[in-house]
Amino acid sequence: MREWLIDSYRILENKSGAPKALPPGYGDAEAEQAIRFHAQIPGYAQTPLHSLPGLARALGVGGIYAKDESKRFSLNAFKGLGGSYAMFRIICEKLGLDPRETRLKDLTEGPYREQISRLIFVSCTDGNHGRGVSWAAGLFGCRAHIYMPFGTREARARAIREAGPARVEITNLSYDDTVRKARELSETKGWILIQDTSWEGYETIPSWIVQGYLTLAAEAARELDQRQIRPTHLFLQVGVGSMAGGLLAYFANHYRENKPLAVLVEPLVADCLYQSVRAGALRSVEGTPVTMMAGLNCGTPCTITWPILRDNAEFCVSGPDDMAALGMRSYGKGPEGDPPMISGESGASTLGAARKILEDPAFTEVKKAMGLDESSRLLFINTEGDTDPENYKSVVEG
Ligand SMILES: Cc1ncc(COP(=O)(O)O)c(C=O)c1O
Repeated sequence: MREWLIDSYRILENKSGAPKALPPGYGDAEAEQAIRFHAQIPGYAQTPLHSLPGLARALGVGGIYAKDESKRFSLNAFKGLGGSYAMFRIICEKLGLDPRETRLKDLTEGPYREQISRLIFVSCTDGNHGRGVSWAAGLFGCRAHIYMPFGTREARARAIREAGPARVEITNLSYDDTVRKARELSETKGWILIQDTSWEGYETIPSWIVQGYLTLAAEAARELDQRQIRPTHLFLQVGVGSMAGGLLAYFANHYRENKPLAVLVEPLVADCLYQSVRAGALRSVEGTPVTMMAGLNCGTPCTITWPILRDNAEFCVSGPDDMAALGMRSYGKGPEGDPPMISGESGASTLGAARKILEDPAFTEVKKAMGLDESSRLLFINTEGDTDPENYKSVVEG
């Protein structure tokens, strides 16, 4: 295992050596079921997959592709894919319905409406997941309580209230402690915990959330196949690792022996995946870390996706807020004639990391170790737009 400490970046080469078993549960069959559900939601449209040839040329790689999840429904982020699909699966289970045969309108227009309206969901969020849960609660006609960690910007709470009927409270707790609070409330009040991370004994609902994210992976793979583009490198941002784990499993299944090399990106102050991979066992980052990458500010990895990431990701990068700012400006300015894209702090972190590695001579050895050269085709997920509009403005325009 090689490790580099360069400026305020840490980079880890993950040679776990284990034969890379193809992870079950997050393949084509699960993705198809998720897409089938999402496609029934009013306003569904496949999100754009942009090619950035100007930036690729400037950075000396063969291609850069970015799936723009800021355009997902009206949510400015990918996260609603998971919350809505899990809510659908939970409701089907409560009503004893087969999710493969149940249509959205069977639930929203049929005789189950009254029963569904009595359901109350609870969750912790740093913003985007809660917005998705609130929106999904509106879609199904039920209620939700959302708790947010200390330091949350009011704009993020407001966006959740505006997305649907959820009641929102900003606590004085860290993200991990706020998850514990939501969990306790679910136990004492009988609310349904819909959390985008897992732990021992709480795995089914998070696995549905992860399966919901597969809609975006399957859309991207389908479009890349149609355009005859096979990505060589996949950059994925990590909070708890639910999204990265689901997507990596999907792409590993889809591309088999041609699986793209996977690089996981986290904030330096909350790099729980990096620390876990380095230790070869689950590790948490303690305290109340502060980073503008709010969506990635999580201290404990998701247990169900952890083995997938451990066995299938080749590199971990943890970097400072400047990394995200670099990515935000790169997307936002539309360099070298590429289409400009609005990308928020967590959404842009991966492009910032790649750009730093490709451009800064201090990272030459890392670039070589990652096999990044003029034949590389890099795939990014812009997981959010300007979810903190004030900070976005000050970073990109300031
Ligand atoms: C915009 C954005 N990107 C990435 C992530 C990371 O997802 P996960 O926590 O599943 O690793 C989040 C999580 O909230 C997010 O909001």
